[in-house]
Formats: sequence, C-alpha cells, structure tokens
Amino acid sequence: MPMQNVRTTPIEGQKPGTSGLRKKTAVFRRPHFLENYVQSIFDGTGGVEGKTLVIGGDGRFFNDAAIQIILRMACANSAAKCVVGQGGLLSTPAASHLIRLRKADGGLILSASHNPGGPDADFGLKYNGPNGGPATEALTDKIYECTKTLVLYKIAAAEDLDLHKLGSHKLENMVIEIVDPVADYADLMQTIVDFPKIRQLFADGFTMCFDAMHAVTGPYAHTVLEDMLGAPKGTVINGQPSPDFGKGHPDPNPIWAKTLMDKMHSADAPDFGAASDGDGDRNMIVGRGAYVTPSDSLALLTAHAHLAPGYRDGLAGVARSMPTSRAVDRVAESLGIGCFETPTGWKFFGNLLDAGKVTLCGEESAGTGSDHVREKDGLWAVLLWLNILAETGKSVSELMADLWKAHGRCYYSRLDFEGVDSDKAMTMMDRLRAKLDGLAGSTIGGLTVAAADEFAYLDPVDGSQSTGQGIRITFAGDARAVFRLSGTGTQGATIRLYLEQLETNTDRLQEAPDAVLTAVRDAALTLSDLVAMTGRSTPDVIT
Ligand code: G1P
Ligand code: ZN
Repeated sequence: MPMQNVRTTPIEGQKPGTSGLRKKTAVFRRPHFLENYVQSIFDGTGGVEGKTLVIGGDGRFFNDAAIQIILRMACANSAAKCVVGQGGLLSTPAASHLIRLRKADGGLILSASHNPGGPDADFGLKYNGPNGGPATEALTDKIYECTKTLVLYKIAAAEDLDLHKLGSHKLENMVIEIVDPVADYADLMQTIVDFPKIRQLFADGFTMCFDAMHAVTGPYAHTVLEDMLGAPKGTVINGQPSPDFGKGHPDPNPIWAKTLMDKMHSADAPDFGAASDGDGDRNMIVGRGAYVTPSDSLALLTAHAHLAPGYRDGLAGVARSMPTSRAVDRVAESLGIGCFETPTGWKFFGNLLDAGKVTLCGEESAGTGSDHVREKDGLWAVLLWLNILAETGKSVSELMADLWKAHGRCYYSRLDFEGVDSDKAMTMMDRLRAKLDGLAGSTIGGLTVAAADEFAYLDPVDGSQSTGQGIRITFAGDARAVFRLSGTGTQGATIRLYLEQLETNTDRLQEAPDAVLTAVRDAALTLSDLVAMTGRSTPDVIT
C-alpha cells in the first residue's frame, strides 16, 4: 500500500483552546487543515511509531470522514494499533476510560462538545494523554509550535474501513480494533455506584427523564438506565445520535434543554431530570420544579459521595474551576478536606487527580467528574445523583434545601455575550485589568470592593504557571463577579460574566436568583463599562 509524504505549509489559527482545537466544520474540511493538525499532534507528542491510540468522537457531521483520515495517517506514521469506537462513536469520558483501561499512549477525540454540529456548524479535535486526560498546556503549546513549522504530513493511500464491523482489522502493519463504545464504560460505572440500589429505586416507581439531546450519550443512557437499571423505556429521550444533533444545540442548560426544563416544571413532572451534551461530558440536573446549578451539584455530590460504593472511604479532596461558585469550598471545609481552585478547563484537574490530591472536581459549565476517568462525565454525575436519591429517600429539592441550610446558598448565574467583536472584547478586558490595582476599598452601586485581581495558577504538582485566567472582583458581603473571555468559541469573542452572592440567612434561601444577583450584576457592568465598550446591553445566554 503506498504511503504518501504530502508536502504542506503551516496553516494559521491552529492554536488549541480551552478544550482542543475548535473551528467551523468548513474550516476543518479545507485542504490539509485536518491533516496538518493531526500530523502536528503526532509530532508534538513525540511521534506515534509503535504506539496505541484510542479514537472516537461524538458522531457529529464529518466525524466518520475525519476518523478515516486519522487512521490512514496513524498507519503512515507507524502506529501499532488504534482502538476505535464502533461507528466512530465514543463519549469523551468513555474515551478517557478506554485510554486508561487499554494503557494506550493517548487518544484523539473528535468533538466540539456542546457546540452545534453540521456542515455549517462546528467541529473539533482534542488530544488526550496516557492518563486519559486532556493534554496539558505544555503539550498543547508543543503541538501548536509544530503547526507553525509543518512542511509535510504522512498518509496511507487506503480504502475506507467499515467502522461498524466489530473486531480486529489490519491496515498495513497497524491493527485497528473496533470496540463497543458502551460496554467498558458501563462496567466501570458498576464499580462506582450501587446498581442494585438504583434498580430498586426504579422498581419502586421512581420516574426520570434523561435528555440525550440527539448526541453521543444516547446509546450509553439507553444501555445503563433502561437496560441495566430497569428504568422504563422512554426514560431516555432524543437518544439517537445524529450528525446535526437534531438541528439542536447540544448544551445541557435551561436554555438549550428547554423541553426537559418545561417537562420538569409541569404538573406531571417526573421525580428526576437530567441531560448531557454533544460528547457526553456535561450534565444538567433538575428535580421536580427545581433546577440545580452545576456549582451546587458539585457541592451536593461532595457532601454525599460517601453513600456510593466508589467513595465509601471518603474523598481525598475536591477541586473547582475559579469561576465556579464557592459552594463546594464550604462543604469541603466542613468535611475537613482540601479544596483547590484551578483555571477553567478540565486539563487543570489532571495533575491533582493523578497525584491523589482530589477525588471529585467540577466546573460551573455543567461539568462534574471524579478520579474514575480524567474527563468530566455527564452520565456518571447522573448515576451518582441517583445513588444519593436512592440512599437518602429524599427529593432533589429536599436535598438542596438541606445543603443550603447547612452551608448557606451561593446564588449564582453566568451571563454570556456571544459573537462580540474581538478587539472590543479585548479592549474591555484590558481597561478593566488596568483598573484592578486601585479598586479595593471603592464602592460601586452600594457594594464595596474587597479584592480585585487577575487569576493566575501555580500547579501544586508540577509547578507550572498559568496566567491571565480571568478577572475576579470580590465585594464585601460575599459577592463576587468574574470576567473571562471564552476559549472555545469559533466566531468573534464570547465574554463570560459570572455572578455569585452567598446567603446564609435561613429565611432567605428560596429567593429568585435574578433578584439576589441584581446588585452584583449592576456593579460588574458599571465597573467594566461592558455595554458602552461592546455595544451589547443584554446577554445572549444566561445560565
Ligand atoms: C467552556 C467552559 C469551561 C469548559 C469548556 C470545555 O470553556 O466555560 O468550563 O471546560 O467549555 O467544555 P470557555 O468557552 O469558557 O473557555
Ligand atoms: Zn462536552
């Protein structure tokens, strides 16, 4: 079979963001774009000769065609073996698990997560290392350096492989093993949560709706929830992955999972609602008439994880990304365990998990996970919730009310201003940054600034430093506003404004979050001059 060395030139804009490289699908399909990036991943990680790689994606448009290219390139670069999810499917957490289970050298996950899919929408590719986690910043920097000097990529001239045919296949000297994407993941879940207990919960009439949002979790949820745990058929909705996610936006939040939200607030709402995103790493949790913020979900899971077999001995510690609310900090303190604050993005949790410093971690953006894999894990979070619901016999609202009573409630919201002109967004951040030093002690709209800085992180495990990770302003009275620019967008800039207000008065734990957060929102908008600077008066998405 002819191996081709294709001459190419560096392509601009191949710098990986918060979670790999994300671009418009049309950009990924331009001549050499994907090939250049894949070769840069191979080169930047020291070559793939003799290595085993795990490959799979969320099934979005271009998933299968891209996998065929990656396989031919892995072959030409002398990889020993590729383990591929059947039909090219692997959820992000399942891929992370497979890398660890097979002791693979790494993996390529094809996904743009919660971004829409299709020829006119988004595509993405990320590299995960042998620990199953996203490449560290040091590694993504190396990959990026390679993209800037690349002159050649290697590819085998071969026919497409049938990605649906389970078992071992050969491409020249490289073995391609096509595996069931669900089986190993489902086995892992049984070692963590109490399946018999949850099965009993469903047998006793507990009702649930899981919205897979036409994305990759569909097959996982059908197998685990309906087939293994006995939830009635129909518990999982939108369970068939489709290349354009049913023309939807596979982001599990109250805006994009509106059908589920409406159902959970209707008269005949099930006991429990949940949703997951494009690649299955995010989760949304809703009780009957009760939406749980991801920050609160992390706190709740931290407080009750010991009820599940996988965490019987307690937690080593927890971690949250900086903009995530400080609810989990309060629970961790009461448990006497460490709580780490990291920059946004799952890659910063990897070292802490590997070093055994933390067991659970999470982000405000609907990501929760544990040391069972090195990615956030949507279905795992749902199963842990089910385990806790089964053990306590309480409803979601009761559990949340108890949590707030014990630790106070961190009212929380995130405002996203999308598609903002990049220069304007950058200027706004620059001006705010320039003000920070003199802010402490000043009063804005009745709130006094207690501290203001730009978050920087010193990794306690490898000593690496990450700067410029978001501007945070805390106010007297336990309020906080954080500004960041998104690192996953594909068009213009997205400004994220994160708002938080702690309330410990037990008479004020059931207020409307919007009302509670008005003061801190107004102060943040005044301080940043966001409206005048960007011309945007209202956010596109509020979660
Ligand atoms: C967003 C989220 C972040 C998450 C990432 C990948 O990144 O805010 O928490 O890790 O997606 O799912 P951002 O666009 O803010 O850089
Ligand atoms: Zn995702």
